[in-house]
Amino acid sequence: MVRAVRSLFPQWSVPAFFAMALSFVPGAAWAADPAPTPTPQVHKIADMFQPLSKPAELILEPSHLVLLISLAIFLVVVGVLVYVLFKFRPHGPADLLVEPPQIYGSYNIEMAWTVIPCLIVFVLILVTTRSIVEIQDAKIEEDALTIRLVGHQWWWEIHYPELGIVTANEIHVPVSERNGKRRQTHIILESADVIHSFWVPQLAGKTDLVPNRVNHTWIEPFKTGIFLGNCAEYCGTQHANMLLRVIVQEPEDFEKWVANQKQPPAEPRAELAVQGRKDFYALACINCHMVNGTMAEGVFGPDLTKFAVRQTLGAGVAPNTPEHLRKWLHDPDHYKEGSYMPDMKLSPAQLDSLVAYLETLK
Ligand code: CUA
Repeated sequence: MVRAVRSLFPQWSVPAFFAMALSFVPGAAWAADPAPTPTPQVHKIADMFQPLSKPAELILEPSHLVLLISLAIFLVVVGVLVYVLFKFRPHGPADLLVEPPQIYGSYNIEMAWTVIPCLIVFVLILVTTRSIVEIQDAKIEEDALTIRLVGHQWWWEIHYPELGIVTANEIHVPVSERNGKRRQTHIILESADVIHSFWVPQLAGKTDLVPNRVNHTWIEPFKTGIFLGNCAEYCGTQHANMLLRVIVQEPEDFEKWVANQKQPPAEPRAELAVQGRKDFYALACINCHMVNGTMAEGVFGPDLTKFAVRQTLGAGVAPNTPEHLRKWLHDPDHYKEGSYMPDMKLSPAQLDSLVAYLETLK
């Protein structure tokens, strides 16, 4: 069985396969591919059994216990079933005429299958409550980084309120030292439309983003690299393509990223890019997208101020390369059917100029 699963999904570990299967989260087809740029290690297996952050570690122990208990129940039920199938199978035509003993109303059996499950559930409640409280009531350090994450159909709006940064779909955070300087990230979760759920399996358990409500969670990653996450609550057509990546960096690299994000984008110089900016203003792009320091002030779609720095397009549906970007602008439905990015029926010349302009936003 294990070997069969391995041969089907050679790039996945078996626990990861079961974690994905059990959680009903659709696999991130593109996210499993290597990163487009030579960036740090991509922790591409969204594997909750390999936690690399404090809250995810706190969940691991109860997860093992729940799985073990479930496995024991499974073995008992299947074992009894198989035993009964063999033990009481008809041995001859005469057996078919005899009615088996009727045990309806057996006090002992009724007690056994009522009390034992109640005890098991009670133990599970105690164990999981302890972990939930431990994570929810954990003290957030004074100097923790704060991020406000807003879920949209089907992308993530990301604010760093203290730093004045707005971006989308890629969260950058500094790495924490296990036995030294702690660097927690406090995440405030909100939704602009329907219920979504934040889940980066190696960093933290799921927390929902609920309209008209503010939820909280936190992460404290102990390793640098790119951690892949998904929206984990069905939120419409493109729920499966609402991907998220958390890029955990050394503090110096994080500071560099912050410094760059705070700068307005450079003026486009090439003729094509200048034309692209004109087209960007003239077409409806600016109604939905923001480019800091320009007349583009839309807030319905992702902020594009530092678009070209990001690794993916359309919340992770494709690598952010000029070729993919051109196709995306030409027909967003090709990548993300039903997305709210309209097909603007752009001419080849407009596509070329817009791609040239958007590539300067870094
Ligand atoms: Cu957002 Cu599912």
